[in-house]
Amino acid sequence: MVTKGTNAPASSGDTPPIHFCAMPTGARIAYSVIGEGAPLVWAAPWFNMGAAQAIARQFPWGEYTSVLDLGTAEGNLPVQVARTHPHVSGIGFDLPPLAPVFAEYVSAHDLEPRLRFHAGDFLKDPLPSADVVVMGMILHDWDLDEKRVLIAKAYATLPPGGALIVYDTVIDDDRRQHAFGLLMSLNMLIETQGGFDYTAADCIGWLTDAGFRETAVEPLTGPMSMVVGIK
Ligand SMILES: C[S@@+](CC[C@H](N)C(=O)[O-])C[C@H]1O[C@@H](n2cnc3c(N)ncnc32)[C@H](O)[C@@H]1O
Repeated sequence: MVTKGTNAPASSGDTPPIHFCAMPTGARIAYSVIGEGAPLVWAAPWFNMGAAQAIARQFPWGEYTSVLDLGTAEGNLPVQVARTHPHVSGIGFDLPPLAPVFAEYVSAHDLEPRLRFHAGDFLKDPLPSADVVVMGMILHDWDLDEKRVLIAKAYATLPPGGALIVYDTVIDDDRRQHAFGLLMSLNMLIETQGGFDYTAADCIGWLTDAGFRETAVEPLTGPMSMVVGIK
């Protein structure tokens, strides 16, 4: 149950509102409302917990020391990576109203020294650099041109040998099996201006076009898979 009365908009005036509400555990979640013009926001750690823990386990973090999580929300992805791999430090990148939600969640895990928030608009602002860039449940929010812009920006900020990890409910290449991914894509078409989910072959094509020299696809938990590109 969500506590009522705490979901006041985080912003006012010309900025589209992002709302907050408190959960019985004391945690806060952030969300936007369709029709109010805000970007799609859904910051709640249980939403990506399976994927974040699988990426912390499955990806070869021993070869990397820093991670940049684009559209980090509360920061569960960098938190799970940093908890599992003490040598990794990280940056959570998101819109300014998400800063307090990130600070609260990272502090609850005693990870402030290693994880910091970077406020910005990932379509317009320069990205900080890191060995690994992650986009979790991000690409499917945007249309094809915007997807390509985000992938190109990730490529530009990575060092040679750096990795991009994209995770979403990636659809099977024949678009016949993955009902969850197909329905998620329909959901994105309704909830966003031009967003849609995509197949692994689609994503590998975009990564290859952006210059990534090696790509791989790996299932995570439930309906989620990651596509990895190495620069
Ligand atoms: C669907 S949530 C994904 C959250 C998280 N990565 C996950 O795996 O659950 C999308 C996130 O992107 C952020 N976002 C949307 N537009 C953005 C922009 N232009 N620049 C930076 N972050 C943005 C939202 O605030 C939100 O936290």
